[in-house]
Amino acid sequence: MTRLIFLGPPGAGKGTQSQKLALHLQIPHISTGDILRQAMKDQTPLGVKAQSYVDSGELVPDQLVQDLVQERLEQPDAQSGWILDGFPRKVTQAAFLGELLETTHQGGEKVVNLDVPDDVVVARLLARGRKDDSEDVIRRRLEVYRSETAPLIDYYGDRQKLLTINGNQSPEEVTSALQKVIES
Ligand code: AP5
Repeated sequence: MTRLIFLGPPGAGKGTQSQKLALHLQIPHISTGDILRQAMKDQTPLGVKAQSYVDSGELVPDQLVQDLVQERLEQPDAQSGWILDGFPRKVTQAAFLGELLETTHQGGEKVVNLDVPDDVVVARLLARGRKDDSEDVIRRRLEVYRSETAPLIDYYGDRQKLLTINGNQSPEEVTSALQKVIES
C-alpha cells in the first residue's frame, strides 16, 4: 500500500512527479492546488473563499483545505493508497493529517522532499506562467514555503518518515531516483 506525501518549494516538480507516479501505481493523485484551482474556475463556495489567497501566494485557511482533504481521503478510490501533493503545508496541517490517519487506521505514510534551489524554481515557474507565477507572487510563495512549510522537513525527519531527493535534475532522473527510494 503506497501512501506518499510530496514536499518541496513551489516549482520543485511535486505535481509533475506525483502525477506520473500515481498513474504508474494506479492510485489517486490528490493535489490541493489543483482542487482549489478547479473550485475557483467553477466559482464554488470553496473557490470563492480561496481565490484571494491563491492569487496573492498566501496559504488558504487550514479549515478549508483540511475539510477538502478529509473528504477526498474518504472516497473509495483512496482506500488502496494515495499521493498527496501540496498538503500538508504547515505543522498544524501535518498534525491534523497525522490524527486523521491514525483514527482511520491509514498509517505508514512516507514523505518525499524534492530539494531544488530557489533560483531554479523561480526560472521554472516564470517559464510556465500560471496565474500565480508572476515574479512577485512567486517570491511570496517562496517566503511562505520557508516560514510555514520547510519546518515540515524536520517534523517528518524526526518521525523517520522523510526521504529527500535532488529535484534539480531532469524530470526523468528525478523519476528514477524516486522509484529507487520507494522500492528500497
Ligand atoms: P500548488 O498548486 O500546490 O502550488 P505550489 O506548491 O506552488 O506548486 P507548483 O504547482 O507551482 O509546483 P510543483 O512543485 O507542483 O511543480 P510542477 O511539477 O508544477 O498551490 C497553489 C496555491 O494553492 C498555494 O499558493 C496556496 O494558496 C493554495 N494551497 C494549496 N495547498 C494548500 C494547503 N495545503 N494549505 C493552504 N493553501 C494551499 O513543476 C513546475 C514547472 O517546472 C513546470 O513547468 C514543470 O514542467 C517544470 N519542471 C518540473 N520538474 C522539472 C525538472 N526536473 N526539470 C525542469 N523543469 C521541471
